[in-house]
Amino acid sequence: MQDKTMQSEGAAAQEKAASEGELTFAPMRLKDLHDVYYIEQEVFPYHWTYRNFESSIATENQGIVMRDGQGTLIGYFVALDIVDEMELLKIAVGKAFQGKGYGRILMDKVLELARYLEMESVFLEVRESNTPAIGLYESTGFKTVGIRPGYYVQPKEDALLMKLKL
Ligand SMILES: CC(C)(COP(=O)(O)OP(=O)(O)OC[C@H]1O[C@@H](n2cnc3c(N)ncnc32)[C@H](O)[C@@H]1OP(=O)(O)O)[C@@H](O)C(=O)NCCC(=O)NCCS
Repeated sequence: MQDKTMQSEGAAAQEKAASEGELTFAPMRLKDLHDVYYIEQEVFPYHWTYRNFESSIATENQGIVMRDGQGTLIGYFVALDIVDEMELLKIAVGKAFQGKGYGRILMDKVLELARYLEMESVFLEVRESNTPAIGLYESTGFKTVGIRPGYYVQPKEDALLMKLKL
């Protein structure tokens, strides 16, 4: 749980970013991968390889990059729509930009896309120790619906399976 000051700072950054219209969103392309992979390595202890991203772009995955007005990559997500359910495979904000409301803005885009694709729900797996991500998901309305024991490696850890009904 964060204190009120952090919450209002986050909300202010989100409002500022949104109101100034300084953020852009675009489908993830090969030209984005240099920047995406930089953040990927920076924020995930056990991360996707560059090739994983190339394969993801080559498939039907929905990848979105979020950049600021100068073109700097702030964050990205990758999702997969399966019939009427969307699986959020990955969501990340660069270390320097975390805790400023950008993750929430990115999550709003996930939900906007899911609604556009007429999904009925969004689900995801998250490391049980990943407090910031779980905080974001819970405050968005995701509920824990299961546990996958030993799902993650390096380090080995259980995954929470979380779901949001749209
Ligand atoms: C998870 C992540 C995307 C959140 O992005 P962010 O820009 O830092 O998040 P925001 O500033 O928008 O905060 C959104 C909410 O997340 C939660 N949160 C963010 N940082 C937190 C922290 N350090 N501790 C607890 N909760 C936190 C809060 O609920 C926050 O809402 P609030 O500000 O109203 O309290 C980011 O931390 C990240 O990229 N982490 C590394 C990659 C990762 O673990 N991705 C998820 C697994 S796929």
